[in-house]
Amino acid sequence: MSLTNRSLVTIDDLSDGEIEALFSLADEMAESPADQAGLCQGKIMASLFFEPSTRTRLSFEAGMLRLGGRVITAVDIGASSLAKGESIADMARVVGSYADIIVIRHPWEGAARVVADYAGVPVINAGDGSHEHPTQTLCDLYTIRKEGRAIKGLRIALWGDLKHGRTVHSLIYALARFGATILFRPGPGLEMPKHVLTRLSTEYKGELKTCRNLNQELDRKLFPVDAIYVTPSSPHQLAMLPDISVGVELKAGIDALYVTRLQKERQAPTAEVQELEKGYPVVDKKLLKGKEFAKTLVMHPLPRVDELTHEMDADPRSMYFKQAAYGVPIRMALLAVLLGAKEVTIPKEEDSFIPKIDHPVYKRDSGVKCPNTNCVSNQETEVRYIKPEFRIVSRQPLTLRCIYCDHEMHPQYVASSEWHQRKLENKKYHSADSHFAHKIKPENLIVFASEDEARAQQFKPSSHIRP
Ligand code: NCD
Repeated sequence: MSLTNRSLVTIDDLSDGEIEALFSLADEMAESPADQAGLCQGKIMASLFFEPSTRTRLSFEAGMLRLGGRVITAVDIGASSLAKGESIADMARVVGSYADIIVIRHPWEGAARVVADYAGVPVINAGDGSHEHPTQTLCDLYTIRKEGRAIKGLRIALWGDLKHGRTVHSLIYALARFGATILFRPGPGLEMPKHVLTRLSTEYKGELKTCRNLNQELDRKLFPVDAIYVTPSSPHQLAMLPDISVGVELKAGIDALYVTRLQKERQAPTAEVQELEKGYPVVDKKLLKGKEFAKTLVMHPLPRVDELTHEMDADPRSMYFKQAAYGVPIRMALLAVLLGAKEVTIPKEEDSFIPKIDHPVYKRDSGVKCPNTNCVSNQETEVRYIKPEFRIVSRQPLTLRCIYCDHEMHPQYVASSEWHQRKLENKKYHSADSHFAHKIKPENLIVFASEDEARAQQFKPSSHIRP
């Protein structure tokens, strides 16, 4: 499939082969930047950055200028019509009529999906709240590759604010797809969200071991690991995954350490930021003296605050300024292919771990809302054009995943839209975990946020209701 006119909202919008093809093109862009100057002549990129940015915005803009294109920019919600109450959809339609491609950063999770749905031109997500930041992941994977390391089998530790960091959320899916072993070292209370972990173990086929006593398994104290995720070495080996031994994994050394800052701006209003800062793990020369870190690539999406000491900057293991610099060729490659200025050959994927599951969609006005208050579907409330929309990812337990922000919910009550003989007295609702509920076809499923909601819609409790 061609990449022309596609959008990049989540990292899963690109297949493994497409990522490889983008990397080859980025190599070409980096080798001869002067030869690219005519590629996007006459094209306009709109860069809409409604959150602070230095690297992402400027590397996108530099990339477009190097391709011979032009850039229009809006960087402040307060200075745009969103401040007057305009919907994201209306803004997307308008900007889509001015520009050939849109790059958007927005504080709400799922905002980039809405822009992609309405703009009529390709849209690139440059970070939507805590959700995803797929082009940062491209820079991260490209850096690892440029250092001559393979992602398959790579032992990488994700460090810091794994709860709110969007960079790690995109990165983790890509790492799992390419077959890495992932170690988790979150700050206290900043663990990877449950929906991300569930998805890793249900869809990406690796094995996740969350371990309270994990560190006792280690021969000597390294750093407190919270969990480990291992991908089998080939998709055909799924049933043969050996027992995970963290000790063995760590003794072989850490190939990469991906450090992130505390996302202060995304903490809940009740969070004690000072407490979080106090307990936040720091990466410094002392930690990296251990022999497990002898060949570790020290990575960071930047900006860095106190979690990674400046004494590391001159260390040859430090990769973060390279990651930032690769932003230009990577984003040049991406802009050129999405705008159809360059065609790429997609290598054949033999060993892909990418989930190819097509979950049924749930889209009804039955009172259920995404549980994430920062989701675009809960924020765009003034204008009722966004209907909550989910994918039914499991029936046992019933699990609905928001199509905008990926948060999951487990509704307790369900009904079928095909009630018996269409008689009103047969319009019944049931417990979601009842035998009867499992038999309802996805296209007939109605889910309720509560019994009150079911009753408000004239459904009566059936005998399949748990007290
Ligand atoms: C990150 C972001 O904005 O999510 N920065 C970036 O794009 N390189 C990381 C961060 O802000 O901590």
